[in-house]
Amino acid sequence: MTSVFDMKLKRRELLQAAGAMLAVGSLPFSARAQTAATGRLKIGVVGSGRVGSVLGGAWVKAGHEVMFSSLDLEHDKKLAASLGPKASAGTSSEAAAFGTVVLISVPYQALPGLGKALAAHIKGKVVIDTSNPIVARDGDMAVAAREKGAGLASSEFLPGARIVRGFNAIGFARMAEAAAKPGLVGMPIAGDDQAAIAVASGLVREVGYEPVLVGTLAGLGKYLIPGTPLAGERSPDEIRKIMATLKP
Ligand SMILES: NC(=O)c1ccc[n+]([C@@H]2O[C@H](COP(=O)([O-])OP(=O)(O)OC[C@H]3O[C@@H](n4cnc5c(N)ncnc54)[C@H](OP(=O)(O)O)[C@@H]3O)[C@@H](O)[C@H]2O)c1
Repeated sequence: MTSVFDMKLKRRELLQAAGAMLAVGSLPFSARAQTAATGRLKIGVVGSGRVGSVLGGAWVKAGHEVMFSSLDLEHDKKLAASLGPKASAGTSSEAAAFGTVVLISVPYQALPGLGKALAAHIKGKVVIDTSNPIVARDGDMAVAAREKGAGLASSEFLPGARIVRGFNAIGFARMAEAAAKPGLVGMPIAGDDQAAIAVASGLVREVGYEPVLVGTLAGLGKYLIPGTPLAGERSPDEIRKIMATLKP
């Protein structure tokens, strides 16, 4: 017998699938074919450190194929081996080329160089950017990026990519635990491309968070860094209330 819970789950799955289909409709043809055929994505992780390895690991568990990269290929090979056959390792260029979706999770000072080196691979792709300008680590370029707003700065460093900022101001260790209580904590995200936002939202949910779109990269997206009112763990409703008090 079908329980109410099963029915709710089926309805939710249908809604999710519908959302995914809408999002897929405006993806490049190769990505559309891939998603329609498998329901799963190829994800390239550029920066397999604390955040990149947790998020990539969660997406492997969710059934996606993930290629990890960093400056240390041996580390990435070991990481991939620990996650099973859906995980692989490569250079940053290989990971960016591999992914229909690319996660960029590096010290902010690496973004300008990566934007140039990976330009051909990330053009037109959904890029989830967790990277934050931290002055103590990234120096003067972080001061400039914070003045401009990290959303806008990232879009200038990664031209042509369909950027969604997310996972910027919750600690990586908590990200690893989010799946235990899915949907309780909201994840503020920002972006300019509705289809990219829909794809990123699905991936945020698979890590265990409820995505909350706060606005555009140049608007409230500037608050998606540590130390702002949107930083830290909050319920989706709390995030919406805080959003209403912020100036774009
Ligand atoms: N830690 C957190 O809890 C947290 C939470 C939210 C957002 N963030 C932000 O997310 C970003 C990543 O944070 P993290 O804590 O994961 O940093 P991390 O542990 O230091 O990892 C950074 C990764 O980027 C790689 N990398 C550095 N330069 C690179 C380049 N030029 N090309 C390719 N890969 C490069 C590193 O490779 P190697 O290890 O080989 O050098 C490493 O895999 C940062 O901007 C951080 O501010 C961090």
